[in-house]
Amino acid sequence: MIEKWAWYHIEIEGGKLTKRVDDVRPDDPDSSMKLWCIDFESFGVVLVEGIDRKKKSQVSAFAECHGDHSVQHIAFDTTNLEDFVTHAISKGVNLRGQQLVSNDGFGDLKQLFGKGYSEQNAALMSFPEYVERPKQGASMSTSVPQNTGKNFYQRIEDARNSGDTSTLIDFSLMPENWAPGKSLPPQRASTASTTHTSEETAEPA
Ligand SMILES: [Fe+2]
Repeated sequence: MIEKWAWYHIEIEGGKLTKRVDDVRPDDPDSSMKLWCIDFESFGVVLVEGIDRKKKSQVSAFAECHGDHSVQHIAFDTTNLEDFVTHAISKGVNLRGQQLVSNDGFGDLKQLFGKGYSEQNAALMSFPEYVERPKQGASMSTSVPQNTGKNFYQRIEDARNSGDTSTLIDFSLMPENWAPGKSLPPQRASTASTTHTSEETAEPA
């Protein structure tokens, strides 16, 4: 199915295939995934499809639950990921592990995932990703661990396996009289940079 949606995004919508990995973890006896990146210049789509071996990939599980080409997560670009993370944690946001440095097919970046938006099996719930990409003419501090291509998805699978359904944010922390426009956070995530989608059946997810 990844081919079907790649055809749609490229031939119908005019995207460009910038990265194609047909098996991100060929030596993993449990599961893996197929991952193709389609670039639209101002944003990108990552198509993923589960590869099930001894275990069902969380990508396949997500697609079976939500349908072909459902969206698992959207990444928000930040001006400075560390500042954003410090701000988010001070407001009670629950992130899934530490940030990692990686290359996602659209270039180098630092990234991390938030926990799920609502209390559900971690492999089936949508969540946000926060990233920082090098700005023109500026260097990006990359003194964080390298993403081995397994870390984030492994964390979600670990959460599923351990029954961890903790969520991104506890809304009891939201002030009762809050209304938009009263205050702006010092560091906020800005533009959505990457939309990850899931498809199914030979299925991206
Ligand atoms: Fe992502």
